[in-house]
Order: sequence, then C-alpha cells, then structure tokens
Amino acid sequence: QANEKESMYLVSEFAQKYFQDTMLNSDEGQAIGYSYFKERGFTGDTIKKFGLGYSPEIWDAFTKEALGKAYNLDYLDKTGLTIVRDDGRHVDRFRGRVMFPIQSMSGRVLGFGGRILTNDKKAAKYLNSPESDIYHKSKVLYGINLAKQSIAKKDNCYLVEGYTDVIQMHQAGIENVVSSSGTALTPDQIRLINRLTKNITVLFDGDAAGLRASIRGIDLILEEGMNVKVCTFPDGDDPDSFARKTPHDELVEYLDANSKDFIQFKASLLMDEAKNDPVKKAGLIRDMVSSIAKIPDRIQREVYIQECARIMDISEKVLASELAQLVSKEV
Ligand code: CTP
Ligand code: MN
Ligand code: MN
Ligand code: MN
Ligand code: MN
Repeated sequence: QANEKESMYLVSEFAQKYFQDTMLNSDEGQAIGYSYFKERGFTGDTIKKFGLGYSPEIWDAFTKEALGKAYNLDYLDKTGLTIVRDDGRHVDRFRGRVMFPIQSMSGRVLGFGGRILTNDKKAAKYLNSPESDIYHKSKVLYGINLAKQSIAKKDNCYLVEGYTDVIQMHQAGIENVVSSSGTALTPDQIRLINRLTKNITVLFDGDAAGLRASIRGIDLILEEGMNVKVCTFPDGDDPDSFARKTPHDELVEYLDANSKDFIQFKASLLMDEAKNDPVKKAGLIRDMVSSIAKIPDRIQREVYIQECARIMDISEKVLASELAQLVSKEV
C-alpha cells in the first residue's frame, strides 16, 4: 500500500517534469503553452516557481513516454494521467492544455489542473486530476507548499478561488495565499491553514458566485474557531486580474483597506437595501447572529454580539437572547 502510493507520487513527479520540459523545450510547447502564460503576464521565474507546463495535442504522447521510461500502466491509470478506454486504448487525460501541478504541503505532486487555451465559454475551462489514493481534493490547498512560511510569518492566509489568483498574487509579492481550486471549501482545508495561522482573509471573485462562496466559507471558518475577514473586488475582477493591473504597494493598501471582519462584510452586503426595511434588516441581523453562533469560543461570541449590536443599532440583550437560542439548539 505504501509502495503503491510511492509509485503514484513518482509517476506524478515524472508527469510534472514531462509537461514542464514539453513547454520549455518543444516548438509546440513554446509557441502555445509558454506564450499563453506570457500573455497572462507570468514571468519566466514565476512559470518555473510553480512548475507550470504544457500537455501536447497528441492522443498518447505522455503515456507513451512514461511507459517507455518503464513507469507502470497501473499507476498511470490510478493517478488518472492515463485513461484506459473500453477498447483497450490508452490515452492521455490532458491534451493541448497548460498544466498546473497541485502539490502537497511538503511539495509532492498530487495531481494537475489543465486549462484550455481559449476562453470558449462552452468548453469546461479546467480539467483536473481525479480523486486518487494520493489526491484527496477536499484535503488539498493549491499553493500551500509555496505559501506556508509566509502564512506563518504574516500570521494571515489569503484564500482565493483559482490557480491563477495564487500565481499572480505571488508575482505581485504576496506569498501567503492558497486556493481551494474548484472544490467548495472544506473543514479539512481550513484545518490545514489552522496549523499555520488563526487568521484567514477570503478574497473571492467579484461576481455573484464569488460572493455566495464567500458567505458559505465564513461559517465554515468560524466553526473551526478561526478569525475570518473578507475583501471583495470590483465586479468582474478576480485577484488575478486585479493584482495584474495594480502596483504592489497599491495592492497591499487595497487589501488592508478593504478587508472587513465578517460582521462588517455582511452589513455592507445588505445594509443598503435593508436599511429602511425592518423585515429585511431583521433577516440580516438573524443571519449575522447565526454566523456568530458557529464560533466555539463564548467570549469571542460576546465580542461579536457587541459589534453587531453597534453596527446594526439594536440592543445587545435582544441579540444575546437570539444567540442563546441558536447555541442551545446546537448542543
Ligand atoms: N475550476 C475548475 N473547473 C472549471 C472551472 C473552474 O476546476 N471548469 C476551478 C479552477 O481551480 C479555477 C477555479 O475553479 O482556478 C476558479 O474558477 P474561475 O474563477 O472560473 O477560473 P479562474 O481561476 O479565474 O481561471 P482563469 O483566470 O484561467 O479564467
Ligand atoms: Mn486514501
Ligand atoms: Mn469565478
Ligand atoms: Mn476567477
Ligand atoms: Mn481569472
């Protein structure tokens, strides 16, 4: 079993090198893969730092290469790098895509995300490695291997949605950043961060989906007993597009100035429309209290109740009794 996993790690590492080598040292890789990343504003150093690569537009180029190097088909299949079709033919999972290796905390390659080169809205933009014995999506955070030291040092972790958000933030000089990459945020992912810091700042895309995901993420983070802030971006921007066009100092300033604790964030979300509508305002207050109820620590709950009372201009007593009901329901 241990040997089997080790073999899967080794074939994944080989794949990472193959995709990287194909991008840097083949005509197709240079013309298509490398220039794609360059167009997105990634420097050569960044491309190397993240081990990015390219999978050629050939049915079985990688599989052939791996089998030729005596890697076992069994492990190619188990990592999902090779798909064994019903007709017995072996084909590469990733073809004609730019490749993002997904690594563990210690830097081992677990799987890949592969992006198509166009912005064709009909095709699935990213294809990812399947779950496997070495790749448990709910337990992995993209970028964690390159972020861990900075997260501990800054005592804060920026949480973004995508691969390119992580990469562009690094290039902008902000390294305490990881991504849940396509899966909805999970408790295991949050616990991974909790080993390094108690503070998470959620930086999700400035669109409706990003907003919804931020709201879901807040309660999960609170449940783990961590502090959560949210920083939103202008509609249509994500951390990648925003970081790319914003000079470092300005970016840092923006993040500081716009990071709000979850009470302020929720208040700002709905306050405008709810302000003069008692029913909506009551709904918003209940929503805030239900988030506060997720916090395991009683004193922290108290502090947030005070803040909520102040911001929403309502008595602490009413909030406290509402909270007491929710908390007693949980135990
Ligand atoms: N994702 C995925 N499969 C998709 C779409 C998205 O796995 N079909 C994951 C990827 O990890 C992606 C993240 O969800 O990075 C965020 O999605 P999205 O915001 O749509 O993509 P971006 O990261 O902004 O990608 P890009 O800038 O390359 O368009
Ligand atoms: Mn397992
Ligand atoms: Mn998005
Ligand atoms: Mn995005
Ligand atoms: Mn993007």
